[in-house]
Amino acid sequence: MTTTSPPPSNSASASSGAPLLEVTNLSTTFTTPRGLIRANDSISFTLRRGETIGVVGETGSGKTVLGRSILGVLPSRYTTYTGSVRFQGTELTTQSRAELAKLWGSELSMVMQNPMTALAPARRIGQQLADGLRHHLGMSRSEAKAEAIRLLYDVRIPDPERRSKAFPYQLSGGLRQRVTIALALAANPSLLIADEITTALDVTVAAQILDLLGRIRDERAMGMILVSHDLGVIATRTDAVKVMYAGRIVESATTRALFASPRHPYTEALLGSIPRHSHTPHTPLNAIPGAPPNLGRLPVGCSFAPRCAYAQDRCREERPELVDDGTGHAVACHFPRNLPGSSVGAGTNEAVRVENKTAKVCEERNAVDVSVATGSPAAREGGT
Ligand SMILES: Nc1ncnc2c1ncn2[C@@H]1O[C@H](COP(=O)(O)OP(=O)(O)OP(=O)(O)O)[C@@H](O)[C@H]1O
Ligand code: SF4
Ligand SMILES: [Mg+2]
Repeated sequence: MTTTSPPPSNSASASSGAPLLEVTNLSTTFTTPRGLIRANDSISFTLRRGETIGVVGETGSGKTVLGRSILGVLPSRYTTYTGSVRFQGTELTTQSRAELAKLWGSELSMVMQNPMTALAPARRIGQQLADGLRHHLGMSRSEAKAEAIRLLYDVRIPDPERRSKAFPYQLSGGLRQRVTIALALAANPSLLIADEITTALDVTVAAQILDLLGRIRDERAMGMILVSHDLGVIATRTDAVKVMYAGRIVESATTRALFASPRHPYTEALLGSIPRHSHTPHTPLNAIPGAPPNLGRLPVGCSFAPRCAYAQDRCREERPELVDDGTGHAVACHFPRNLPGSSVGAGTNEAVRVENKTAKVCEERNAVDVSVATGSPAAREGGT
């Protein structure tokens, strides 16, 4: 697959230059007592510096496995990788664990959904940051302590010197998530994978954290992969989107193109399941019927066929491959929707809805910026 992205819409700085990350036909298989599970199947994409790629898909579609496969952090005794992951021109899949470990945290970082699992509960957060800085950057104890406080300041933690002495349990969820971001950014990585980092946060804190990440990405020309269930976040914070289903990318496009004219019936259904302001009370949500498939026993043909409203005989016999139309919009479907010049699908409705959602998020962002600037209560969080 080729991804020839037009100029990014959500990054302040244009992504350019040689690819930071090139993933080609990456497949990840687990050997389990219940048989083989192919959690990622033939994944390909390219990420440039300053660019953010969003990854969406239902639970179990392989999003977290993708992030972990790129980093090579899955348990080696029962995980098999095939394909290629090139980071700044270096092939990662053939590196030893010791060689990869030198890149973890320094060049490649991942922030997970649950900050408590990333933080040592019995160590003060300043100490944890300083440990990382001494390990990765060889700083002295006093340098690392000062840098840890600067990092807490960078992620907009109020009163960072005092907070650096706190234990994780003494901080609110939002502050803890900021600490994990500070940890992930400590050694100035070139690639950050953020996996559902705002799922547990309220909308204001989530907006602050995403603003912060966007600013840091632009300042440092970092590449970012943003995994999220929240389509509003994906619509407003990413340049391109990969939609995953049953371990595969089933649609790939610029964010604008994907939301304006989704081509895969699964993408169309995902967008259609967003609650709308125009819904009257008790309007049923457009849920996607059925359940995600068992990755150990995928149906022949298209994995989405049992749930697809447009499935035909061919879908149950022949697996659709991901095909790029030459503009960077790729879809794995025998009967795609919303093709240019086709009356199949209703993409313009989605475009209008996304524009509205984008405007709403921008309004919220502005409100937060004003609160931060004025120190009003909206900018403050709980914690110590
Ligand atoms: N270490 C592992 N060993 C065996 N199977 C695994 C392992 N990690 C993940 N899987 C399986 O791989 C599939 C994809 O899991 P993954 O965690 O990537 O899903 P996800 O898209 O991130 O879902 P969610 O939205 O719930 O986070 C699931 O079927 C999961 O059970
Ligand atoms: S290939 Fe067929 S079953 Fe699969 S998504 Fe397309 S129309 Fe639906
Ligand atoms: Mg996950």
